[in-house]
Amino acid sequence: MGRIDRLIADMTLAEKLGQLTMTAADYAVTGPVVAPVSEDAIRSGTIGNLLNLYGAEPARRIQEVAVEESRLHIPLMLGFDALHGQRTIFPIPLAETGLFDPEAWESTARKTAEECAGDGLHMTFAPMLDVSRDPRWGRIAEGPGEDPFLGSAFARAKVRGFQRASLADMGAIAACAKHYVGYGAVTAGREYASTDMSDAMLREVYLPPFRAAVETGVAAIMPAFTDLNGIPMTANGFLLRDVLRTELGFEGVVVSDYHAIAELWNHGVAGDLAEAAALALKAGVDIDMMSDAYRLGLPMALERDLVAMGDIDAAVRRVLSLKERLDLFQDPYRRGRADSGVTAQARALARDVGARSLVLLKNDGSVLPLATRRIALVGPLADAAGEMRGPWGGAGRSDDCVSVLQGLSEAGLDVRHAPGVAINTNDLSGVSSALDLCADADTIVLCLGEAALMSGEAASRAFLGLPGRQQELADAIFDKAAGKPVVVVLFSGRPLAIPQLVSHADAVVAAWFPGCEAGHAIADVLTGKVSPSGRTPVTWPRAVGQIPIFFGERSGGRPFNPDDHFTSHYSDVENSPLFPFGHGLTYGKIALSNLRIESGDPLTVKVDVANHGPRKAEETVFLFIKQKVPRVTRPGLELKGFGNIMLAPSEQGTVKLTLARPEGPAELFVGPSAAYSSLLSLPI
Ligand code: NOJ
Repeated sequence: MGRIDRLIADMTLAEKLGQLTMTAADYAVTGPVVAPVSEDAIRSGTIGNLLNLYGAEPARRIQEVAVEESRLHIPLMLGFDALHGQRTIFPIPLAETGLFDPEAWESTARKTAEECAGDGLHMTFAPMLDVSRDPRWGRIAEGPGEDPFLGSAFARAKVRGFQRASLADMGAIAACAKHYVGYGAVTAGREYASTDMSDAMLREVYLPPFRAAVETGVAAIMPAFTDLNGIPMTANGFLLRDVLRTELGFEGVVVSDYHAIAELWNHGVAGDLAEAAALALKAGVDIDMMSDAYRLGLPMALERDLVAMGDIDAAVRRVLSLKERLDLFQDPYRRGRADSGVTAQARALARDVGARSLVLLKNDGSVLPLATRRIALVGPLADAAGEMRGPWGGAGRSDDCVSVLQGLSEAGLDVRHAPGVAINTNDLSGVSSALDLCADADTIVLCLGEAALMSGEAASRAFLGLPGRQQELADAIFDKAAGKPVVVVLFSGRPLAIPQLVSHADAVVAAWFPGCEAGHAIADVLTGKVSPSGRTPVTWPRAVGQIPIFFGERSGGRPFNPDDHFTSHYSDVENSPLFPFGHGLTYGKIALSNLRIESGDPLTVKVDVANHGPRKAEETVFLFIKQKVPRVTRPGLELKGFGNIMLAPSEQGTVKLTLARPEGPAELFVGPSAAYSSLLSLPI
């Protein structure tokens, strides 16, 4: 008998349910602690997993209780949300996706895993893989944007980075891909609301990143809080068992979301805790996070024959197997050897990735890079180091973060700062001193946008303009700027609907939330030390009423024709987005030409890219297809590839992309974004 069989044969029901339970640690002034009652439960083997406890010291202390003091000596598994960094905070995932660089995505996940392991953690509840086309939904910040092909590439890179070659590697942790599935399509973008979609939509748009994560060997999956087509994901046997395990071949652990099993009662599918626990277990949920439904409900469910001991044993086996793969039995203290601070090497990575995640949305008259040194730095996000972390800031600390004010000052610019207004209040009393400051400067840099916690979980918004009185501050400055360049650095966890701001500003940089090296990264791009190369992984609307707006929409029978009233359009706003998917300018002047296909399967697609500008530039090239007469309606464009090329001034190069030969006739498009007018095309 192997170790796991022996353990299962030896375990009491309470000990089995302990392995299926994950409880949160509390926070005390001195750091995370385990409540005495939970510590006793760990000692008695009735809590087998914890979340929200990290740090070498506390992690070791609590592991000792499990390993030395419990009857069966089974080690704990500790999990935490390290969405975009643990100690070193990288750009939010939406921003990092805009690098279109799988190697970079993987390297930040590796660093995060290393820091998590140093902190005694074994699992992170990441990557978040919810495709979303609705920027009202605050959690769009946590994921890879609007496209399933892109989300799948992101999923593979992140799983590789967190888990390395083997979960037993020093510095590897288990990834938990979330939130399976469809959460990004919540009704009206409202957090925790219901989702409803066709099978085609599910399989073509929302499922692919999870399929990619499973194919890459992801260790765990977290079901979404939401219901899909009437069945809560936490109890969705079809999607968790038949699709995830049987069809996709997932063999790992399913961890419920926080309190989600108990919430099956709110969904109306379970009458009591025993039913809720039985529904979740039967659907394939192995670990109950924070409901205590398994410990309290499963004994009753057993008595009522709602579940069998075999169902419990199967889940326990999966949890113990993961602990074994993490090498926890062999060496329970191998992780948590040293709390990581933010090392110089990690900072360098955060600065590099941070700078490359910035998207230059507009740059009229090439006002960027900055040509002058006397800068009026205005706005509530200019001196806001802590906000730079964005939502889900892991264990990152505000005082490890660099503000824009600090970054620009350290870059040697002559910077005067006034906030003008706060992020989200009604107070305009600071506007006049901000205007005075502008009168005295050569260039005005306006740092505007959302507070970090205006996106992320439970942070839906119905209006996507600038919060508070920021638009009024901007308008007053545009009014008085008198020919001085105004550069907007915009912070947000989502695309904002800000046509007025964009039309008046000379330059706009979407900074999202760049992480702990924000100020340095922004200074690098504004001064021209780094040429901007980020691309938006999500479409920006002109108006909230256009949402959902995304490039992969099916064209329908009456696509818009300006000469025909009875075609698809709004009467009060144009159809086109403020910025299309993939948009992002450089400091170069890029031209694409000579699109060609070399046959074979996969096809080789090549396009020449030239930089006619005076500065070096990194260009991202996108490959889309459109099927011809597919007999069902298909998206207007489907993303099938992307590639990057760095070009010196006057340099020309070739980007090579591969494409699996489509089944029927199709048209291929290559270009710098999803804007139709910018694409070169060829039939295939
Ligand atoms: C709730 C969130 O939905 C989930 O993403 C997260 O991992 C858990 N809380 C644990 O913090």
